[in-house]
Amino acid sequence: MAYETLIVETRDNVGLITLNRPQALNALNSTVLKELQQAFADFHANEAIGAIVLTGSERAFAAGADIKEMQPLQFADMYKAEFISGWDEIAKARKPVIAAVSGFALGGGCELAMMCDFIIASETAKFGQPEITLGVIPGMGGSQRLTRVVGKSKAMDMVLTGRMMDAAEAERAGLVSRVVAPERLLDEALAAAAKIASLSQPSVLMAKEAVNRALETTLEEGLRFERRLFHSLFATEDQKEGMAAFIEKRKPAFKHR
Ligand code: HXC
Repeated sequence: MAYETLIVETRDNVGLITLNRPQALNALNSTVLKELQQAFADFHANEAIGAIVLTGSERAFAAGADIKEMQPLQFADMYKAEFISGWDEIAKARKPVIAAVSGFALGGGCELAMMCDFIIASETAKFGQPEITLGVIPGMGGSQRLTRVVGKSKAMDMVLTGRMMDAAEAERAGLVSRVVAPERLLDEALAAAAKIASLSQPSVLMAKEAVNRALETTLEEGLRFERRLFHSLFATEDQKEGMAAFIEKRKPAFKHR
């Protein structure tokens, strides 16, 4: 399919999606959302794909939801259309998604990066929730996901003042998992995704589910959930193969990659 706002490619077993609206710093409009839903659905349907990398340009991952598209909207329009709900599909992706962020990740851009499983940032990355400066608040999860990740004090600081956080601060705060030089960003993210895609997919999907459950439930329930998933993986051939390969000092040949 031909995309207007994305570049969609595959690199071996990795799906690569590049936001491509340079004239608007990759602002997220309804076309971007529709096309992202399509690209995600295609990669999920494609058995060969084991992980996805989502990136933007060097200048901007995404500078937010499209302010020009939103400005004239009325409450009733937003409510009737359940504006924003389409992004839930992206957040609920089953296959692992890595955000590779360079430049601005603001408002919906920061929120989109946080919907991914982890964020690898370039030294130039800048994160922020500037919605308050527009007379609104975050709407795609910024007040919820950011708070869970960086804690109340820093989340309040970001959401109430709208200030930006650089890559070093984002790493200290736990918002990003690694910071790399700008020219290394895509290779680093693709290598991480390729590693994930080389592993047994049932264990990868369960690992993602288990970590996500930690944000949704009590410790006791979370531990029970993890243990059940752990037990269930012993019903897979890949558990036998992975452990046998370790003992025999060879590389595992996973069946369910
Ligand atoms: C629409 C945008 C945009 C946005 C940038 N542009 N951000 N268009 N929506 N979110 C457009 C500009 O209008 C401009 O177009 C072009 O991109 C380049 O931007 P400049 O402002 O000229 O660049 P610069 O001076 O380098 O400043 C970069 C910037 C600034 C600091 C990132 O663009 C900025 O503050 N952008 C808005 C950030 C923001 O408030 N985001 C939150 C949005 S609300 P022209 O045509 O003039 O050249 C949101 C809510 C999410 O995200 C939840 C609900 C869905």
